Amino acid sequence: MTKEEKYLHLQQMNEEALKGGGQQRVQAQHDKGKLSARERVTLLLDEGSFEEIDKFVTHRSQDFGLSEQQFLGDGVITGYGTIEGRLVYVFSQDFTVFGGSLSEAHAEKIVKIMELAMKTGAPIIGLNDSGGARIQEGVVSLGGYADIFYRNTRASGVVPQISAIMGPCAGGAVYSPAITDFIFMVEKTSYMFVTGPNVVKTVTQEEVSAEDLGGASAHSTKSGVTHFSCSNELSCIQSVRKLLSYIPQNCEEDAPRMAYDAKDETRKMLDEIIPDNPNQPYDMRDVVKGIVDGGDFFEVHQNFAENIIVGFARIAGRSIGIVGNQPAALAGVLDINASVKGARFVRFCDAFNIPLLVLEDVPGFLPGTDQEWNAIITNGAKLLYAFSEATVPRVTVITRKAYGGAYDVMNSKHIGADMNYAWPSAEIAVMGAKGAAEIIFKREISGAEDPEAKLQEKVDEYTNRFANPYMAAKRGYIDEVIYPEETRIKLIKAFSMLAHKVDQLPRKKHGNIPL
Ligand code: HXC
Repeated sequence: MTKEEKYLHLQQMNEEALKGGGQQRVQAQHDKGKLSARERVTLLLDEGSFEEIDKFVTHRSQDFGLSEQQFLGDGVITGYGTIEGRLVYVFSQDFTVFGGSLSEAHAEKIVKIMELAMKTGAPIIGLNDSGGARIQEGVVSLGGYADIFYRNTRASGVVPQISAIMGPCAGGAVYSPAITDFIFMVEKTSYMFVTGPNVVKTVTQEEVSAEDLGGASAHSTKSGVTHFSCSNELSCIQSVRKLLSYIPQNCEEDAPRMAYDAKDETRKMLDEIIPDNPNQPYDMRDVVKGIVDGGDFFEVHQNFAENIIVGFARIAGRSIGIVGNQPAALAGVLDINASVKGARFVRFCDAFNIPLLVLEDVPGFLPGTDQEWNAIITNGAKLLYAFSEATVPRVTVITRKAYGGAYDVMNSKHIGADMNYAWPSAEIAVMGAKGAAEIIFKREISGAEDPEAKLQEKVDEYTNRFANPYMAAKRGYIDEVIYPEETRIKLIKAFSMLAHKVDQLPRKKHGNIPL
């Protein structure tokens, strides 16, 4: 072969690899409202930044006629590129080649970029669209999955791992995304389940559609498996890009610092949020908006366990993770789902050096048999544990209620918070005034001529003594009682003061968080 012929051959190979499973299958993908694997990579990465690896890899199977079906790349596009100029590794499964199913070679390609990501300290983004294990390959394909799970676990806490589910994701295929830090799903075109509707029907006689069983809506509201539910693929990809802007490249680095408007410090609107009636709800997101740069809050798990809100924002250009009780949902009570949601988020932030801000208005843990029998004790302890072990800068603002065990759990001074503020509306007590009066003055109230009036008298007495932030401030449990409007400036200063905080856990192999 002449040099020209060799170059032509390479060109033909490259062109062949770009075709995936062929125009007809790409069209079928588009007809379902889905993009092709390559289109997704192009949208995800900065223009022209993608460098593909292993473009010519093919499977090595002989069974079931596979030796006659070879597609360059074997159903997954892998490589690296940049997002806002920062290095990321990507794999994008190509549904047009064997339904994006995972073969031995397909798995090897993914493992290769995972290892590069760990060596070079950069995030891994998986765009999943796959029929699961390549059925023709049998155990070799199962081994490939396990190789990926193992790397997912090894990479956990080293580099951020993000999964976008953009098509079917069935069987063991769901477990790689489940180990990663964040899952995005696309409404109506993506599914996650351990077993699909047909198997469900055979085993349990239950009839359920794929969408109801494992669609974005089910997993963003009921199971909490997905952190983000996106209306289409484009908004999904844009959200992945936005998430990355808040997080660092790896566990040794800080998140990128952004510019901010230094004059924008006093926020009068914060004075208007707490209602006069202490039992009236309000939206904690309004507090967040009043505090952070540009009022911009990137909420995680928005529709799951709505009694707690978690997400990313910036204060003076610094990325922070926010955990807030949400009085507008179940009065902000802590239940099992809220505890697990909060704990997972706190641990992500701590693993990746993102300071934590806690906004507290919590009446306590949710009572009842449902919660007790499903282990609110173990699950509530997750949140307690997650805060207690976090070594990143930690600041709390108590806006209203901080009752009972929930006071301790929600980043109290006692479990290692660095700065604890309270608004004048804060009520820091063992429980609400009415419940407290009914217990400790039970005999006095029942023996009174007018029990109603006596109860009110005792409620007022308890309220005046305990339902305020000053008992806690006297003991130094609260560092300062502040006016709501000055919260932003106080937090700018506190996070700046804490920027070089050094704290380390005692030497150990790893802790034993109550799972
Ligand atoms: C090989 C597969 C495949 C698979 C799909 N295809 N899944 N090839 N292995 N697992 C191929 C089809 O043969 C077809 O090829 C093409 O992909 C598109 O598939 P369709 O069925 O036509 O598409 P659609 O109607 O959209 O249905 C998609 C689907 C369905 C829901 C994913 O294909 C399906 O149910 N696949 C099997 C899912 C499954 O049971 N996977 C194994 C899970 S167990 P052509 O040539 O016609 O285009 C598992 C174990 C892992 O993953 C354990 C790890 C611990």
